[in-house]
Amino acid sequence: MMLKSVLHHSTTIHSLRCHFNTIPHRQMTTGTQSIVSRLKSSGLLQTKGLIGGKWTDAYDGRTIEVNNPASGEVIASVACMGEKETKDAISSAYEAFAHWSKLTGSERSNRLRSWYNLLMQHKEELGELITLEQGKPLKEAIGEVGYGASFLEFFAEEAKRVYGDIIPSTLPDRRVFVLKQPVGVVAAITPWNFPLAMITRKVGPALACGCTVVIKPSEFTPLTALAAAELALQSGIPPGVLNVVMGDAPKIGNSLLESTQVRKITFTGSTAVGKKLMAGAADTVKKVSLELGGNAPCIVFDDADLEVALKGTLATKFRNSGQTCVCANRILVQEGIYEKFTSAFSNAVKDLKVGNGFSEGVVQGPLINEAAVQKVESFVQDAISKGANVLAGGKRHSLGFTFYEPTIIGDVKNDMLIARQEVFGPVAPIIRFKTEEEAIQIANDTNAGLAAYFFTNSIKRSWRVSEALEYGIVGVNEGLVSTEVAPFGGYKQSGLGREGSKYGLDEYTEIKYICMGNLG
Ligand code: SIN
Repeated sequence: MMLKSVLHHSTTIHSLRCHFNTIPHRQMTTGTQSIVSRLKSSGLLQTKGLIGGKWTDAYDGRTIEVNNPASGEVIASVACMGEKETKDAISSAYEAFAHWSKLTGSERSNRLRSWYNLLMQHKEELGELITLEQGKPLKEAIGEVGYGASFLEFFAEEAKRVYGDIIPSTLPDRRVFVLKQPVGVVAAITPWNFPLAMITRKVGPALACGCTVVIKPSEFTPLTALAAAELALQSGIPPGVLNVVMGDAPKIGNSLLESTQVRKITFTGSTAVGKKLMAGAADTVKKVSLELGGNAPCIVFDDADLEVALKGTLATKFRNSGQTCVCANRILVQEGIYEKFTSAFSNAVKDLKVGNGFSEGVVQGPLINEAAVQKVESFVQDAISKGANVLAGGKRHSLGFTFYEPTIIGDVKNDMLIARQEVFGPVAPIIRFKTEEEAIQIANDTNAGLAAYFFTNSIKRSWRVSEALEYGIVGVNEGLVSTEVAPFGGYKQSGLGREGSKYGLDEYTEIKYICMGNLG
């Protein structure tokens, strides 16, 4: 299964460098330099891959530049790995599995707990690293560290609770047992929008039940993954249990898919790539978990509390500058509250401070790259050309680069591009509706089914609408729904499986039925 031109459309290889980002490159300013030197001296700025517990350069010496999306500064050059390094990482994980899977749940729990403690001890530095390579405001980045670490704490606790079953037998001289065993080597392919949390949400449960992993972080944000791996080593997680390879995404992806030693692929990212991975995993019949794109409706009913609806909608739309799979993508507002809501929402959005994530008071950082801005621009233009109105923002920010103004567009129709696909940027399209039935019909009229939100003061409506929405996650009078204790995942083409919570552990186990006979 060739993933070429799917994992990274813009990949071109020039001599010893791999280039991925489309931001004009710049040298570091003194401010950035001092953050980078602090991170270097703390040992958290790693630039090599991790294979079998050893920091390793690409075998052919190639590197990729990592940019600060807020400025285009080159922060570091990291190893640009491919097939050979991936095969070695898989072998290391395979060898380490023999030992790691035999430890007791409590021994694995202790290592995960130490890793959690180290992440929390280094939360400011890790937050700085996230802001440097991903762009989100520092406070939000430090918040991601807490969120990411919470999966390790939760699964450290769950490591001791991978329970099996005893089933009453149909015959008197037989006993029927069910064991849960680790699936084996796991390939975790993770995105740039949450450079830490999407790793820990996969690796936490995998390690807890005895699997070993090969992580392939996004080429845009490998530094956080490498820093987390450094802390995993420090926490006593044995060599080979956790490996990191990054660089040539198609080559790495194909090697992971082709290997018979890799028994599970877990991926967070676009639906298009998820489908390719699912098809590619068929050859070796791997277990697959996919957390793919959403097209989240956020419904504001006439009977909603305006303040609660405003706060919740702002939070779900503008978190991470609109770059999450659970960000509201379509805001459906009932006609009785339409004018009041859109005017208050537009005012609130005009107050959102945009800028470099390190600057005081900034709540909206840059988008990840130029391609992301162009996508947002084309969606907005399409909506305007079909009759929608810009109520706030609507263009690139005067800061330049990849900054885009927080935007609200009114009179959007559900057949416009912006309502059909994920905009993945700070743009809130508003659709007017009349009845609850109409809102549910519009909300469900999509192939996606990850998160949905609605605001109402009616208890009856809360149950009715929650049950009618074809979504894996529903926020009622709440815009921020992500937590380590609840199952995260989607219906329809938004994915397969669930992450986080007690359900997240099942994704990494095989069920073994043992029939013991002749006991009479
Ligand atoms: C995602 O965007 O894929 C994850 C968002 C979250 O965990 O809240």
